[in-house]
Amino acid sequence: MPDQLVNKSVNHGFCFNILCVGETGLGKSTLMDTLFNTKFEGEPTQHNQPGVTLKSNTYELQESNVRLKLTVVNTVGFGDQINKEDSYKSIVEFIDAQFEAYLQEELKIKRTLHSYHDTRIHACLYFIAPTGHSLKSLDLVTMKKLDSKVNIIPIVAKSDAISKSELAKFKIKITSELVSNGVQIYQFPTDDESVAEINSTMNSHLPFAVVGSTEEVKIGNKMVKARQYPWGTVQVENENHCDFVKLREMLIRVNMEDLREQTHTRHYELYRRCKLEEMGFKDTDPDSKPFSLQETYEAKRNEFMGELQKKEEEMRQMFVQRVKEKEAELKEAEKELHEKFDRLKKLHQDEKKKVEDKRKSLDDELNMFKQKKTAAELLQNQAQQAGGSTTLKRDKERKNGDNASLSSST
Ligand code: GTP
Ligand code: MG
Repeated sequence: MPDQLVNKSVNHGFCFNILCVGETGLGKSTLMDTLFNTKFEGEPTQHNQPGVTLKSNTYELQESNVRLKLTVVNTVGFGDQINKEDSYKSIVEFIDAQFEAYLQEELKIKRTLHSYHDTRIHACLYFIAPTGHSLKSLDLVTMKKLDSKVNIIPIVAKSDAISKSELAKFKIKITSELVSNGVQIYQFPTDDESVAEINSTMNSHLPFAVVGSTEEVKIGNKMVKARQYPWGTVQVENENHCDFVKLREMLIRVNMEDLREQTHTRHYELYRRCKLEEMGFKDTDPDSKPFSLQETYEAKRNEFMGELQKKEEEMRQMFVQRVKEKEAELKEAEKELHEKFDRLKKLHQDEKKKVEDKRKSLDDELNMFKQKKTAAELLQNQAQQAGGSTTLKRDKERKNGDNASLSSST
């Protein structure tokens, strides 16, 4: 049976998703490259991002016959804004979105969970800046918001920047701050006897102080990953120099399966429960009697139908009311129009009457004028006729005078 399970799992391949949360330039990409001994793509981020975003990359890794589908999600622009109040939101939303996608797949009638690419985050490496002081409020707030959604493994990044004694104090300070603020970090499980001892030892070493580097240096006759400084060399895989090996062992070799299981049984289960409750599903009725999914469905359906009917009735009432209001408005407008029409009609009649009066008086004036004109013409004719007969008489008299003078000269 165990052999069958191993063979089946190996054939199917494994899937592991890591979320790296940390300020820009804290060594997230370098650590991932060092952990998986690969060069993952990824450009350094500028410090002028308007908000925090998440960038996800999936890689297919193979070692001997074991295939691992690894997804590395990095925060972009974390800690770069002046107002960092909402920095955690996009991370929470991303984690929830992966849970939601899985839930939707689970709720489908035709489920393909076997071949489904599970993108739920199994481990969150939280990069703490090597200040040697204490945690920043951004770190505390973010970890507090994430601790019920993901397995948080806090790590002190770039720990070569802090001295040995300071590091010991810093670790104690971080742990006490996490406890006093009620932040639940992932504890390596101690219930399995085969790993109980190593895991409980490792729990006491948290948060791991790590150094990342992909540069290889020759130490003795071996090539090792290291960071070189003018005063010496920090060997990444040397347990006296840093906790990188502890992290790698815990994350990949010993507890990868537990991280996956915790994600499914604790964090996803919590998300699923809250989401289904939010949707109105429940396991028991108000009298604590079992309440099946079908009963919930029917109750919800009836509730929905009732609400629908109520809404329909309300809409109808509203419609009738609206129609009445509109009718009244229209009637009022019609009345106003009639009044206006009557007013204008009266005005028009008055104007018409005035014009007719004026026309009548003008006609009278015209008639009078015509009469006067006729009388004047008559008088003028008479005067002309009278003037004409006097002239004729005078012409005749002048003609007679001329004849008499002519006969006397002859
Ligand atoms: P962004 O993706 O831009 O947010 O940065 P990052 O967090 O991925 O950091 P990255 O791995 O690009 O490293 C930034 C710088 O820090 C590089 O110059 C690394 O060489 C250096 N660096 C990475 N790890 C360490 C470390 O452990 N110690 C020291 N001293 N420097 C490191
Ligand atoms: Mg990076």
